[in-house]
Amino acid sequence: MRTAKLLSLFLVLGASFLAAATLTVSVDHPGARINPAMWGVFFEDINFGADGGLYAELVKNRGFEFPEPLMGWMKINPSLSKGEIAVRTDMPFNDANPHYVRIQSEADAPLGLSNEGFRGMGVRRGEAYNFSAEVRGVAGTPKLSVRLYGGDGTLLDSVDLQVFPRSWKKCSAVLHPSDTDPKARLSVLVLGPGTLDVDFVSLFPAHTWKNRPGGLRADMVQALADMHPGFVRFPGGCIVEGPVLSRRYQWKSTLGPVEDRKLLVNRWNFEFVHRPTPDYYQSFGLGFFEYFQLCEDIGAEPLPILNCGMACQFNSGELCPLGSLDPYIQDALDLVEFANGPVDSTWGSKRAAMGHPAPFNMKVLGIGNEQWGPQYFERYERFSKVLKGKHPEISLVSAAGPDPADARFKLAWEKLRELHADLIDEHCYAAPEWFFSNTHRYDAYDRSGPTVFMGEYAAQSVATVSTKNQNTLECALSEAAYLTGLERNADVVRMASYAPLFANTEAWQWTPDLIWVDSLHIALTPSYHVQRLFSRNRGDRVLPASLANVPPEDTRVYASSVLEDASGAVILKLVNAEPRGTDLSVQIQGVRAVSKGTLTVLGSESPGAVNTLLDPERVAPRESEFAPSGTTFDVALPADSFVVIRVHVQL
Ligand code: AHR
Repeated sequence: MRTAKLLSLFLVLGASFLAAATLTVSVDHPGARINPAMWGVFFEDINFGADGGLYAELVKNRGFEFPEPLMGWMKINPSLSKGEIAVRTDMPFNDANPHYVRIQSEADAPLGLSNEGFRGMGVRRGEAYNFSAEVRGVAGTPKLSVRLYGGDGTLLDSVDLQVFPRSWKKCSAVLHPSDTDPKARLSVLVLGPGTLDVDFVSLFPAHTWKNRPGGLRADMVQALADMHPGFVRFPGGCIVEGPVLSRRYQWKSTLGPVEDRKLLVNRWNFEFVHRPTPDYYQSFGLGFFEYFQLCEDIGAEPLPILNCGMACQFNSGELCPLGSLDPYIQDALDLVEFANGPVDSTWGSKRAAMGHPAPFNMKVLGIGNEQWGPQYFERYERFSKVLKGKHPEISLVSAAGPDPADARFKLAWEKLRELHADLIDEHCYAAPEWFFSNTHRYDAYDRSGPTVFMGEYAAQSVATVSTKNQNTLECALSEAAYLTGLERNADVVRMASYAPLFANTEAWQWTPDLIWVDSLHIALTPSYHVQRLFSRNRGDRVLPASLANVPPEDTRVYASSVLEDASGAVILKLVNAEPRGTDLSVQIQGVRAVSKGTLTVLGSESPGAVNTLLDPERVAPRESEFAPSGTTFDVALPADSFVVIRVHVQL
């Protein structure tokens, strides 16, 4: 009896010695101002991100300009049909896209071509699809039958068009599929006898983002808009550089009517022998105008990245001689004018002619993508001298190579500091452990020189460029932990973006990615939810937040806090990447009262959990009301979770 009493006394005393972990947030000592454009997105046409992704065109190789002009197309010539299908280039409707198809039918039976789309065309019952093509009558008065078939060959809708002049003319029709199908095909068939020339065959959903004809895929833009991104980096990525300079991304060729934009082989077509994508080309239907417009639509700042006279250093590393760099620098000056210049300027007038007289208000511009070494510094210096002279209002992003800590990186910081660079673009693809153990990376950064743009990062569950990488919850938690470190150091880290952004589940080259899609569906990864929660809870000022008494076995617990000026909300971001729950006693100092708010938990039953197209909600944020007991309150952090708390305070 006596022993039992002693034991219970020991347990009570023992428990009181084991103080709970605490988080102290000092609202009365706000720190750095956070850049309103702090959390953004990185867009690159990789993984069918633009063609076959964000750009809603459903026809692949619509202009027959792939080196194999009929790639993506299949000849349809049933036994009763007679005639010939030939690719020609004489008297094309447009010099930028010289190839077209002549369909010469000698019988009544249909003869023509069927397009497979980008790994199938996703069509929905109840929605309208806008067909168009350039057609020229050559002989007779045949019909052009436009037919949409399901993956199993069922006819979903068709329209017959007739009367074609003997010169090129755009014809159009609207199709209404009778069923939803992720693998539909489009056929264009001549009902003879007679001959037609056909080019630029296009099919777009009528329902695009903002219902713009020839626009962007609505669900994908919505996913971006939901993030409230501060900026959109575009067009990449290595695609900026090209494997050789002649195949670099050139923004000027992405303007004007889409028929005038010349096709370019996508650098990711052949980059990885283990992930070849021979049907990957850039149509530039999503060009620089559409990019600026997208930024405006979703309230993000544009952040274009331009080629600096260097091809990809993982490929040829071809250099534009310093003496020949002027056209590259001029491209940068012209881009500033295209984005911001008056409507009577050369490039401002082109923007106005495309339907946007008002400036796009570009403030930041990247010079080179993932460049390194002395050749980069001397090229950056030339760009910087001219741009700073003519446009001191534009901040420049400079490159520091592909690694966040190697000799190339250190040299870049040293040289770019000497060159008075504005923002240095750091890239990091590493194991989750790297992100967990680098949350203090920026605490000791020199505050007197350039600031940081964490322009590409993503935790790799297996290894960089491994095809086995997955977007696990653990990866997302490691990124969340790392972002608390970026947020605490918001005076020196001014911008950050995960990379890459999109991937088509049937045509990707690189994994992990923030958002996965197929022709109809979308899956948001745990990493997406982390970025979204940070961005939507950005705050305006960093609040000192210190963790204490964290049990030694709970080393993977992280916290940061910010104050949102307009709402007066204090926001806590808490990561518990341990396999057990942890209790946290939170003290909000420097306030009279704390009133109720919300608590959002991102978690799942296992750190290996992933979201898929079939199971997209396995790791999703759950929001509930949160009523704190006072200025000190307890929070239970579930195992393997990211928790965001918003409470309102009275000062
Ligand atoms: O995000 C994928 C690639 O990774 C980018 O194109 C490049 O900048 C980096 O090497």
